[in-house]
Amino acid sequence: MNIIAKKQYGVIGDPISHTQSPAIHKFFAVQLKQDINYKAFHITQHELKNFIHEFQDKGGEGLNITLPHKTAVMEYVDEINPRAERAGAINTLIFNKNKIIGDNTDGIGLINDLEKNFHQKIKNKNVLILGAGGASHGIISPLLERSPSSLTVANRNSSKAINLVSQFQQHPLLNGIGINELDATQTFDIIINATSIGITSKTIDFPSFIISKHSVCYDLSYQMDPTPFMKWCMENNAQCAIQGWGMLIEQASESYYLWRQIKPDTSSLLQQLGINASSQVLRR
Ligand code: ATR
Repeated sequence: MNIIAKKQYGVIGDPISHTQSPAIHKFFAVQLKQDINYKAFHITQHELKNFIHEFQDKGGEGLNITLPHKTAVMEYVDEINPRAERAGAINTLIFNKNKIIGDNTDGIGLINDLEKNFHQKIKNKNVLILGAGGASHGIISPLLERSPSSLTVANRNSSKAINLVSQFQQHPLLNGIGINELDATQTFDIIINATSIGITSKTIDFPSFIISKHSVCYDLSYQMDPTPFMKWCMENNAQCAIQGWGMLIEQASESYYLWRQIKPDTSSLLQQLGINASSQVLRR
């Protein structure tokens, strides 16, 4: 009889029914022939602290944190790794003996998807992030570390963009402005949608002059079909438009590595999750 209990992992969020994380981690565990349990838990803000401590008391080894708890959870950890500190958010908890350590693998997930899966270099590129909420905050440092020519954060509400970039010690490459202040003569090599547009409204009203035929566009959100942002980019003649499935899979792989010190191979996962490659990326 196997008396060794399976290691416990999970993801917490509110809502949580849409999450693909249990399926992704199950694929990783099967691929690596490891025996783990990974479950989704619907946890409200009110239940957050108790749940984390109960999970720890029961011997849980790791949790992913999704919306809306990525910032709130920073209060409940004993240590925060520097990249989570810089992101202002945690997406991974590591339960290490009596300590809870917070980390963030979202940013490296995006970088891995762009660099490894789509062979896009960020170095020397003009990069635009649309949006100045939590999703935008989390990807600024990892992008800056790749030495783009410039990194512009443009938001509908300009003061939110200015306030966000001010948290990065006047980094010389970083600039925060209103979307309506974007310069009509400047196009961008990489354009990342970190707004909730597409979820909140299907009408995309960003200025089309930001796109050139060389632009690689990336939507951090994802769905089974091409997103409204992807379609808008292609209508405006972008080189290609990608949605965030790869980032989701790559961040999961980095979390798995933090917990189990072995990195799953992500190459066949899209197909295994039933995601059509022709919906994940649109090309001209
Ligand atoms: P998250 O933490 O997921 O980034 P958030 O903090 O609610 O979510 O931020 C949502 C982002 O989407 C904001 O940048 C918001 O712009 P404002 O700060 O100006 O509200 C942006 N956003 C949402 N709907 C938008 C729309 N229709 N057009 C442009 N930006 C939009």
